[in-house]
Amino acid sequence: MLQYYVPNKVDPSKDYGTPASLSEKLVTLEIDGVETCVPEGTSVMRAAALVDLNIPKLCATDNLEAYGSCRLCAVQIEGRRGTPASCTTPAEQGMKVWTQNEKLAKLRRNIMELYISDHPLDCLTCPANGDCELQDMAGAVGLREVRYGFDGENHLDAPKDTSNPYFTFDASKCIVCSRCVRACEEVQGTFALTIDGRGFDSKVAAGQNESFLDSECVSCGACVQACPTATLSENSIIELGQPEHSVVTTCAYCGVGCSFRAEMKGDQLVRMVPDKGGDANHGHSCVKGRFAFGYATHKDRIKTPMIRDSIDQPWKEVGWEEAISFAASRLKSIQAEHGRESIGGITSSRCTNEETYLVQKLIRAAFGNNNTDTCARVCHSPTGYGLKQTLGESAGTQTFDSIMKSDCVLVIGANPTDAHPVFGSLMRRRLREGASLIVADPREIDLLKTPHIGDAVHLPLRPGSNVAMVNALAHVVITEGLEDADFIAKRCETDAYAKWRAFISESRNSPEAVEEITGVSAAAVREAARTFAKAPNAAIYYGLGVTEHSQGSTMVMGIANLALATGNIGRDGVGVNPLRGQNNVQGSCDMGSFPHELPGYQHVSDPIARGRFEAAWGVSLDDEPGLRIPNMFDAAIAGQFRALYVQGEDIAQSDPNTQHVEAALKALDCLIVQDIFLNETAKFAHVLLPGSSFLEKNGTFTNAERRINRVRKVMPAVAGKEDWEVTVDLANALGYPMSYNHPSEIMDEIASLAPSFAGVSYEKLDKHGSLQWPCNDQFPDGSPIMHMESFPMPEGKGHFAITEFVPTTERANRKFPLLLTTGRILSQYNVGAQTRRTDNQAWHDEDILELHPHDAEERGISDGDWLGITSRAGHTVLRARVSVRMQPGVVYTTFHHPGSGANVITTNNSDWATNCPEYKVTAVQVEKVSQPSEWQKDFVANHHRQNKFLAEASAVAASDE
Ligand code: SF4
Ligand code: SF4
Ligand code: SF4
Ligand code: FES
Repeated sequence: MLQYYVPNKVDPSKDYGTPASLSEKLVTLEIDGVETCVPEGTSVMRAAALVDLNIPKLCATDNLEAYGSCRLCAVQIEGRRGTPASCTTPAEQGMKVWTQNEKLAKLRRNIMELYISDHPLDCLTCPANGDCELQDMAGAVGLREVRYGFDGENHLDAPKDTSNPYFTFDASKCIVCSRCVRACEEVQGTFALTIDGRGFDSKVAAGQNESFLDSECVSCGACVQACPTATLSENSIIELGQPEHSVVTTCAYCGVGCSFRAEMKGDQLVRMVPDKGGDANHGHSCVKGRFAFGYATHKDRIKTPMIRDSIDQPWKEVGWEEAISFAASRLKSIQAEHGRESIGGITSSRCTNEETYLVQKLIRAAFGNNNTDTCARVCHSPTGYGLKQTLGESAGTQTFDSIMKSDCVLVIGANPTDAHPVFGSLMRRRLREGASLIVADPREIDLLKTPHIGDAVHLPLRPGSNVAMVNALAHVVITEGLEDADFIAKRCETDAYAKWRAFISESRNSPEAVEEITGVSAAAVREAARTFAKAPNAAIYYGLGVTEHSQGSTMVMGIANLALATGNIGRDGVGVNPLRGQNNVQGSCDMGSFPHELPGYQHVSDPIARGRFEAAWGVSLDDEPGLRIPNMFDAAIAGQFRALYVQGEDIAQSDPNTQHVEAALKALDCLIVQDIFLNETAKFAHVLLPGSSFLEKNGTFTNAERRINRVRKVMPAVAGKEDWEVTVDLANALGYPMSYNHPSEIMDEIASLAPSFAGVSYEKLDKHGSLQWPCNDQFPDGSPIMHMESFPMPEGKGHFAITEFVPTTERANRKFPLLLTTGRILSQYNVGAQTRRTDNQAWHDEDILELHPHDAEERGISDGDWLGITSRAGHTVLRARVSVRMQPGVVYTTFHHPGSGANVITTNNSDWATNCPEYKVTAVQVEKVSQPSEWQKDFVANHHRQNKFLAEASAVAASDE
């Protein structure tokens, strides 16, 4: 078996030519007189590279299966005729290999001569000059002259494809090595490229001979990365030239947490290259992390602190000191007048662990209350609650790589190829290898259309019926005797299991009984349950389609029940895996952002834990949980909550029922927003503090697999301060002393107070590359797989929870006959503040409403029509897309563009346990309209007014200089 996905613990900057073998059997061979021992299945090329005998190559690279087309890697082997290709020849016991002699040298020179005779020799002006394998190989084989001349037939006039905004395809430089085609298939799993034609006419073609932009290419960059010539080159390299130095850091978009080499020219970022040594991505990337970094230097960046007395006034640009002192005096006077509880703050899942830790510390220690919350409230708070109740820890149980050992993959309410693309590619690879796929989702997500996978089962359930579905799956497992009795007996609480078993066996939980509720045939559910339960290793992956419901927490517990009942916890290939949305949503929860939990999930009411924090922070702490975000909004409207500090979140766009949120923000006496742009929330602010992008600071992010990755500063902060420094200044101005010289000191403090982080330090992170918590005395090198022996629960046992299905109160009726559900798209990210300021706009420049042809026809709707969408909460207008991906009765949109007002129509309904909003179920009616909604008209007017205020502030500041 070949190794593609396991971290290459050899030098990640070196290309060994072919993937490593996972075989445990070793073979010994001799290469150029050097004896070496390698796992069986290793290619001769790799075996040689491992002892630094580097055989020339062009079509081989170590993240792709060997192809054997260029013949440059020919070697001689004792007892074998001819000159076999070393990339496709496996090393064998006792083999004797020669990689260098006159015969081989001549052969290689001849091959290179043929390549070069059909290549534009413009090396000095070529963007890849100095970073071109063709150039390197010409040097390596000692090519000095080309005998064939350039007059014959050639490809030198082949056209360029410049359709993709980020890279160019210059066909005249192509050597048809097929590395790009294979990267698109094997690494990315999109199959957008082919080699079209034969012999001399063969060429790389995107899609059906389309441009890259028009093809199904998703701009992941894997082909650009794989190309050994300048044929596929980043436009930034063409424009700016080769970089001078690089720094390894972590992508700031999604919860996959890909590692990148930020390649720099001085302080200018030239290119982001996925890091082969990255433990989460192993050298792969998606369009966002790879290319969409231009927002960091966008002209809209806020570079100067600003203040104003009222949101109807222009901003005034001020220095840091004045802005911090203005904010602190406002906060102090509001507390003096309205009480300690009248202010609070919101931490950010976009910011680092260290920054988030400091914000909640500021709130608890300097504000003197627990009114801290985070955007996880609106995404994965049910994961925290549900997994804590059942498995004892608020986190996913696996590494991403674990999926390569799964035999059955159950995806519920998640869309990995769009929302977690690099992991989506890994998942597709495993599915191509033969793992079975079950998708429970109202939409036919792209994963179901993965090329070259076996039968996939789609359970197209109705929005709001998740719990009925998971109960039905578990019902089949138990009533058909498919449970893992040994695992349950050894690893789970006996009484809780007995109660749950009785509950789940009731006929009202059977697939037949819930068919009406879920809309999915009982036979399909039974089949899916059997496939899942009978698989040696079955894993569950879920997303916001699980959590953002009135029964989000119940559903998470239902998922954990299913995993426990089938014994799919505690080893590779199994587990419960929440696909966390934002880059640091796991970290922001770990860092104590929630009002009821101190860092490390220690409850504020626990006197021992609280005492430790009190001793370390030198204050006494409130033992009552503070306000959650929705409570803050309600209290603001009621006049009890008067000031809010928001770091790096855009609650005015991301939270449900926009008009309610706007009313709350307008009611505040003081709103302090710290962000890199004038986002929607900042339009209601009195203090605007410039934020720093991930490129401008040091820190750590924790991804969806609990992996703590380093974020490293590659350029100075545009406004002169990193975010953590601003929080420190605000604390000091409030009279609570904070002092750190570097974020590593903040991490040391976290490690001293949060038991699962006890063994984490920057030094150790730098040594290991990354660490998965828990990382402490018990697990000094971190914990890739959790719950291997026991659960962090009383007596170490897993807990089955009763998961009664309770229908949401948000139901379709005659007035609102359709159910709206929301989601994400690959090219945009969340509220779009970053990606809308990049060329990713080429793929998705507006949010649209997808609806089934039947619903469209009933209403006389065609593709592209403007649709008024009305719910119990509000009304907005979007363009229509008629799509068979939808089921009748269900409509879908994204929320990446603020003017769309997608959250104007979502309601205040929320999860019973955590208040996570029910974004995924909103009853609506749609009709053709001809003009924007009233809210949209107001939005545009306010947008222009607030931007004018900003421009006026800059103009005044400029005239004062
Ligand atoms: S960018 Fe990615 S998806 Fe597009 S052709 Fe290249 S490998 Fe395929
Ligand atoms: S575009 Fe690059 S990787 Fe693809 S066949 Fe041509 S030279 Fe090889
Ligand atoms: S998959 Fe996520 S972390 Fe990786 S590059 Fe894309 S957005 Fe960044
Ligand atoms: S590198 Fe082996 S045949 Fe091309």
